[in-house]
Order: sequence, then structure tokens, then C-alpha cells
Amino acid sequence: MRAPHLEGHLFLIGFMGSGKSAMGRLLAERLGRPFLDLDEWIEARQGTTIREIFARHGEAHFRRLERDALRECLAGDPAVVALGGGTFLAPENRRRLRHAGLTVWLDVPLELALERCAGDPERPLADDPEDFRRLYQSRRDLYGRADLRVPVGDDPKEETCSRILHAIRGAKGD
Ligand code: S3P
Repeated sequence: MRAPHLEGHLFLIGFMGSGKSAMGRLLAERLGRPFLDLDEWIEARQGTTIREIFARHGEAHFRRLERDALRECLAGDPAVVALGGGTFLAPENRRRLRHAGLTVWLDVPLELALERCAGDPERPLADDPEDFRRLYQSRRDLYGRADLRVPVGDDPKEETCSRILHAIRGAKGD
């Protein structure tokens, strides 16, 4: 499929386990653009893991690092950017994202997200399944403010990638 033309960045948002990073890499290849992963960016800058940042300094500190990392990312060349599951929730981040490109919500079913993330040592917010469920439900309305929503499941990655490109093209009217 011909890749759609996009001027700004392409942002992938959505809950933990929705496949933002894997899909971002694939989309970047298909679009011939750089790929950035916001969590990896933060970890590289801080020289430590997200879990460690949460454990030592708390979530509020992580959110500040996340906001600053996002600002830095936006200043670069148009890229495909996989955001963290919570990046889109802060009004300040949403405002920036709206001006910087297109946001695509990868909407994963709760049970699949749980299966992928439960007990993942890298995800501090996935330790408790009940908290995970609550967080999932509480975020849906805000994720719904993305420019596009693409349901994702267990399909082969290439297929999902094509559906995302298709949705982007449809949204742009090409
Ligand atoms: C978070 C999701 C994580 C990471 C951090 C907080 C969240 O990213 O940014 O643990 O608030 O949902 P992934 O969505 O890539 O797991």
C-alpha cells in the first residue's frame, strides 16, 4: 500500500500493551521516517529504568520528565513517536500534540492488555490487575480525543500496520 503523506509527527497513543512501540517501528519503516519511543528516550536521558524512576522519585516526577522529553522530541524532524500510556492524559501534552501532528489511539481490549502486561517488571502501573483494570477504564474517554481510533487485537502486525495507514489516509482524504 502506498504510504500516506504526512507533514507533522505521527503519534501513537493508547494503554499499556496496545503495541505502540512495536507498531511505531513498523510504521516508521513503512513511512520512511525516524522512530522515537518516549519511554526509551526518558530511560536513556536518565540512565535508568522507568520502574526505578517511579520507585525512587514517584509518578509526579516521572510525569515531569515525560513532559520535558515530549517537548524535546517535538523539536526534531517529523517522526513516528510511540508515547507512554499516560502521556496523552496531561492537558499540556495534549495541546502540544495537537499542534505537532496526528494522534492515533491504538485501542486494545482490556483482557489482551492484561495478558501482555500483567507482572511485567518494566511496567510499574501493571503490578496489580485490579488497579490496571480501573486505570484502563478511567482513561478511555481521554484517549477518545485522539484524531483517530484504530482497534487493535491479536492480528499479525503487518495487517494492523496496513489498517493504521489506511485510517490515516482516510482521515486525510487522500
Ligand atoms: C505508563 C505507561 C508506560 C510508561 C509508564 C507509565 C502509563 O508506557 O510510560 O510506566 O501511565 O500508562 P507503555 O504504555 O509503553 O507501557
